[in-house]
Order: sequence, then structure tokens, then C-alpha cells
Amino acid sequence: MRHLLEVDDLSTDELRRVLALAVDPVPPRVLEGQGMALLFEKPSVRTRNSMEMAVFQLGGHPVCIQPAEVGLDVRESVEDVTRTLASYHACIGARVFDHATVERMANEDLVPVVNMLSDAAHPLQALADVLTLLQQFSGPSEVDWPADGLTGRTVAYVGDGNNVFRSLALAAGMLGAEVRFAGPSGYRLSEVDRDRLAAVGVSFTETHLAVDAVAGADAVYTDVWTSMGQEQEATQRFVDFEAFRVDEELFEAAGPQAVFLHCLPAHRGEEVTDGVVDGPASRVWLQAANRMHAARGLLAWLLSETKADREGES
Ligand code: CP
Ligand code: NVA
Repeated sequence: MRHLLEVDDLSTDELRRVLALAVDPVPPRVLEGQGMALLFEKPSVRTRNSMEMAVFQLGGHPVCIQPAEVGLDVRESVEDVTRTLASYHACIGARVFDHATVERMANEDLVPVVNMLSDAAHPLQALADVLTLLQQFSGPSEVDWPADGLTGRTVAYVGDGNNVFRSLALAAGMLGAEVRFAGPSGYRLSEVDRDRLAAVGVSFTETHLAVDAVAGADAVYTDVWTSMGQEQEATQRFVDFEAFRVDEELFEAAGPQAVFLHCLPAHRGEEVTDGVVDGPASRVWLQAANRMHAARGLLAWLLSETKADREGES
């Protein structure tokens, strides 16, 4: 049983296949007559709507579930909820506080489990991010994309070394991009994270100076300083990240070739200014729209793999 808890659950060839399926004009009806459970422990605009529409476009029926409805580990264990949902649905997606929750769901190995954001990773976002980069630099469809993907491109991320950055670094790096990070000490990738990037051949560097990271980059990316679940740290984080705001001056230091990306929601005036996020180089709305296409590509691939594995077993 294949799952997507983090981008490197896919090989580079599989990642490329997912992205090709994302731009397939005729989505395969891999969920015809079947359901997908979408469980959210945290709020969502993009993930819920893009996943619901992707499931619909693949012929399936999405069922969104709020935490109070199931009471994970309160009313019933994560494992028992997973077993029950797997008896109605072909796939389970979950947005959780603790990454271990999606690991426990996947460990049941009953239906594919998709991480719709955890404290550790946001792989669906990263799929849309690299789809946006491929389209930006090469063209709208798979036929335009170079065989070496994002080789020769540089992605600079400024801010918190968080769930969004871990997944972005894996996805962009696996497609050949050079990945640079600038953020304050205490908010950087761990040694385990860096080893994980190295294991899939990602070229990664980090610096204290945002201006060094962005110089000459093809894409400048940032995310909120305070992620969902970290609200009690917001005051301290506001102080710690002050030198890592993507404003017009920093963005111009990247050079005229650079585009701006942000997973959204943006905290305007904190990690990014209006002038950048609304500026001519911003691609955030294409990126948001690509969430649906990327989700559809991922589910098309995952459900096809599951079907092939089951047919192989019988
Ligand atoms: N980027 C993203 O995941 O947005 P939502 O939190 O609105 O789903
Ligand atoms: N890092 C952010 C991403 C939101 C899509 C969070 O976890 O809240």
C-alpha cells in the first residue's frame, strides 16, 4: 500500500509522473463510485477545496470531517477511526497537528493515506509549488518540460524552516533545483532533515542573511512566521523573524528574473509586504490554483498504484 506522508515517499520518477497526471486534460475516473475521507484538525481554504474538487473530477465523492465529529484519541483511537473510514472510503486524507497521527493511519495499511499538512510536512503544497515552477520556467504542459526538470534553477526560501519548507526543499531539489534557505538560528532544518535532503540528492545551503539567499534566485518563497498550533509563540517569533521579511527591497535584491511564491494564507506586513505578494512577479494565485491540479495528479497516481498492487496480489 502506497501513502503520501512526505514528498520523498515518491521516487523522482514517480514525482514526475504525478506532475504529468496533474496536467492531463482527461482525468482518469479512478475514484468512480468511491469515497475519500478528508479529516481536518486545523482550518483550511485551499487544501479542503482543492481536494474536494480533485476527488470530484476523478469520479469520487469527498466527505469532509471536522475533529469534534470523530474525537481522535478522545472518543475513539486514531487506529479505530482509520479502520472504520477505510471500510467506506478508497482513500483517507488528514490534516493533523502531530505527524505521528498520519503515520498511525498509514500503519493500518488499509487504504492510501495522504498527509494534508502536519507539523512536519505539507507534501500536497510542494507538488503544486513545483508544478508552478515547471510551468513558469518551461511551459504549461508536460510536453514543454525539460527532461532534467528544474536543473539550473534556484529556489530561495526565507523564513521559518517549517512543514512547507521541508516539503518544498524535497520536491524542488528532487527535480534538480538548487535550494537555499535563510532564517534565524533555532528555526532551521535539523540534521535529520538535512540528511533526508541529502539522501535524495538535494543541493542545499543555508545562511543567516536573507539577501545572500535570494541573490540571483529564480524563485523567492516565504511562509508565515507562526504556523497553526504555534500561536502561543507568536510574539517571540515576530521578534526573531524581523530580519526575514520579504519586502520590496529584499525581493529586488533577487534580480529581475525572480518570481515570488507563498503557500498562503499570507500574514501581510509580517513575512511579506503587499507590494511583493500583489506585485507583478507574484505567482501566488497560479500556485493556489495548481493545488487542485496537483492534488488530482497525486490521487490519480496513488489510486492507480493501489489498484495495480491489489490486482498483483490476487
Ligand atoms: N496552503 C494551504 O495549505 O492553505 P490552507 O491552509 O488554506 O489549506
Ligand atoms: N506553515 C503553515 C502552512 C499553512 C498552509 C502552517 O502550518 O500553518
